[in-house]
Amino acid sequence: MLVNLRDICAIAEQNNMAIPQFNTPSLEAVRAALDAAEQTGYPVMIAHAEGHEPMAPLDVIGPTMVALAERSSAMVCVHLDHCEHLSYMRRALEMGFGGVMFDGSFLPYEENVANSSRAADMVSLYDCGLECELGSMGSREAGLHDEGGTAEESGAIYTDPDQAADFIASTGLDILACSFGTVHGLYKGEPHLNFDVLTEIRKRANVPLVMHGGSGVSDEDYHKAVDAGIRKVNYFTYGVKFAGEAAEKLIADKKAAKADATIYWQDLTMVAYETMRDDFEHVIKVLANGAVPIA
Ligand code: 13P
Repeated sequence: MLVNLRDICAIAEQNNMAIPQFNTPSLEAVRAALDAAEQTGYPVMIAHAEGHEPMAPLDVIGPTMVALAERSSAMVCVHLDHCEHLSYMRRALEMGFGGVMFDGSFLPYEENVANSSRAADMVSLYDCGLECELGSMGSREAGLHDEGGTAEESGAIYTDPDQAADFIASTGLDILACSFGTVHGLYKGEPHLNFDVLTEIRKRANVPLVMHGGSGVSDEDYHKAVDAGIRKVNYFTYGVKFAGEAAEKLIADKKAAKADATIYWQDLTMVAYETMRDDFEHVIKVLANGAVPIA
């Protein structure tokens, strides 16, 4: 069933848990996320990033996400991730998305406030919640390029806790994406999360907080982040990395058994779906942080 962003984050708040937002620019990923949610009994978010348009156009994947989420027995919020253009955002709103992110984190502060406020005005006309970002993850949302590294290498700027309070009040956002050491894409070495920054933001922010760059983070750090107030975790890179590795292994195994074995496309999509589903189940359970299943 469809749930909007405000309501799904309220569930997370009440249960001291975080909801994973899986980026799903393929049918395999959409199915994997919904099946993992039904299997585990927890709510989930599925998202399409504007930057993933070449992998799956919004016009194709958006209505598919909404239709499959609607008929799922799990609570599902369909979300637009990292949107930089209000015209693109309007298209998702018209399709029935329950959450959208306006990403003005690359803009000077005043411009970020002005454009995020415009997004809030638009979103207020729909049954939808708004996520905005303050501070910067440095690296852009990955997928087409191998971005990532460390927060320092990526040019990340931690969210300023005092500015966060002003940003929330000035924009009318519903949930805040903040930067405290995670990066999009593959980590080179261990991620170093700054929980002091997160704790200070939480003290001043009266809205649910979001962790982007959620893949590659240890289960222990996930739990610490949830206990420090993170209510939504964005997860993409490691799911598709594991799926890619599973497809690679399947090809290698088939070729080892028979050098001229034919590899059919569905062999790869099926193993990718199963791998993502199992990985997503693990992420959902870890982020549930001990809460009992809700669906
Ligand atoms: P990862 O690249 O760590 O999976 O993060 C995805 C993300 O934050 C999408 O907004």
